[in-house]
Amino acid sequence: MEPVLRLQDVSKAFPGVQALRGVQFDVRAGEVHALLGENGAGKSTLIKIVSGVYRPDSGSIVLDGQPVQLHSPHEAQRAGIATIYQELLLFPELTVAENIFMGHAPRRAWGGIDWRAAATGARQILASLDIHDLDVEAPVGALSVGNRQRVEIAKALSQKARILIMDEPTAALTQADVERLFAIVRRLRERGVGVVYISHRMAEVFALADRVTVLRDGAYVGTRDAAQTGEGELITMMVGRTIDQLFPKSDVPIGMPVLEVEDLSLAGVLDGVSLTVRAGEIVGLAGLVGSGRSELAQTIFGIAPATSGTIRVAGELVRIDSAATATRLGIAYVPEDRATQGLIRPMRIRENLSLAVLGELARRWFVDRAAEMRLAEDAIRRFSIRAPGPEQIVGKLSGGNQQKVVLGKWLATKPRVLIMDEPTRGIDVGAKAEIHRLMTELAGQGLAILMISSELPEVLGMSDRVLVMREGRLVAELPRADATQEAVASAMMRTAKAA
Ligand SMILES: Nc1ncnc2c1ncn2[C@@H]1O[C@H](COP(=O)(O)OP(=O)(O)OP(=O)(O)O)[C@@H](O)[C@H]1O
Ligand SMILES: [Mg+2]
Repeated sequence: MEPVLRLQDVSKAFPGVQALRGVQFDVRAGEVHALLGENGAGKSTLIKIVSGVYRPDSGSIVLDGQPVQLHSPHEAQRAGIATIYQELLLFPELTVAENIFMGHAPRRAWGGIDWRAAATGARQILASLDIHDLDVEAPVGALSVGNRQRVEIAKALSQKARILIMDEPTAALTQADVERLFAIVRRLRERGVGVVYISHRMAEVFALADRVTVLRDGAYVGTRDAAQTGEGELITMMVGRTIDQLFPKSDVPIGMPVLEVEDLSLAGVLDGVSLTVRAGEIVGLAGLVGSGRSELAQTIFGIAPATSGTIRVAGELVRIDSAATATRLGIAYVPEDRATQGLIRPMRIRENLSLAVLGELARRWFVDRAAEMRLAEDAIRRFSIRAPGPEQIVGKLSGGNQQKVVLGKWLATKPRVLIMDEPTRGIDVGAKAEIHRLMTELAGQGLAILMISSELPEVLGMSDRVLVMREGRLVAELPRADATQEAVASAMMRTAKAA
């Protein structure tokens, strides 16, 4: 079958990096084509070329058998190529219908926009995707992440997209939202849309994809039929070596309580949360988005100080009224929203990595450059951060590599308590295994780790104990042996509204 879209021999360089070298890729009507590769392999660059954001240095793009030039995202859209980026590009104060028809709304005879027709059209498109619970008159800003994404998909369809590109669409979704997204993607496939799907989660790739293309270091490695290949083969193609274990949690001796939280409340957000994390222990914190997991982390870390309750660190009662106090007490927090809370994007890798330990690196008025450099080189090696060197500007790194920099920054503080919010979101399989190994290693050294994760396999694989939050409270505590997928998922959802 002749593909709808074909890329031939495409190359693209950025200063200091050959992001793509002679890559080929094609998309057929009615298939889901997954694009895999480690962080920095060139996936986002490839789809930005397809969606008119970047021009290739060389190579060609063939659409319906005709070579085309895509000079802008607008041109790509007109050619039927729609892209859903990880940062959703909706207008929060406009309604669902207004967002869907932004820029191409139905017109009245005299030229004015016909918002009633737009609302009807929006309802029809959503219904065709089996979405019936979205109010098209509601402002998008009030919607959950999952619903916002559904609006983006509807928007793409309203523009008659024949190719829909999704760059890590499930990274910020809950399990329930992921299921709904899959149903929508399958429906699009039946309708003949070609879907390009980027994800670091292997289970998703096998659940959805018809074909899989792997990139490594900007080069094309190969394309396989998903039904005729296995996870092991794809991982080997991606990393060029075999990775035997994804969740290497090994038993380490559990010591004294390091973090003890009792009856912690934050008005309207957290309701009487008590928990303990011991030295050497990894405690997983599961829950739906909005259940209060990140808020709990931020309260312990002093970003949103508690309205009542107590916190003990290593047995001592402490008052944490700011992040600086928490850091001084040996608590580190790797936030979920790394783009805004974790990094200074215009600064270098070296500078970002030393941010949390400047006090130690400073000698009188000057930062110890040599120490800073050692720290940076060590982190680049330890987390396999893909970058030309410590002087690279962080904003220019691929998504996953930015996350590794944040992790490195907080681990440099040598904390006693480490709170990680979605520690491997967007991180490739190789680095993910590295981070899990590192967590086990840190636990082995007596660190107390509280890990928030929306990925159940990660929670179940890494935790000594699983806590489940719902609506601002802890609703379940399961020792490793009892923490099955069903037990955790049912505690997460028991009375949650299907919103
Ligand atoms: N605007 C840019 N300026 C400089 N370098 C860039 C730019 N965009 C991407 N790169 C570099 O190009 C390479 C490929 O990056 P890309 O974002 O395509 O990777 P990716 O496969 O999407 O990775 P991830 O899984 O981490 O999102 C990386 O080395 C990245 O640092
Ligand atoms: Mg990317």
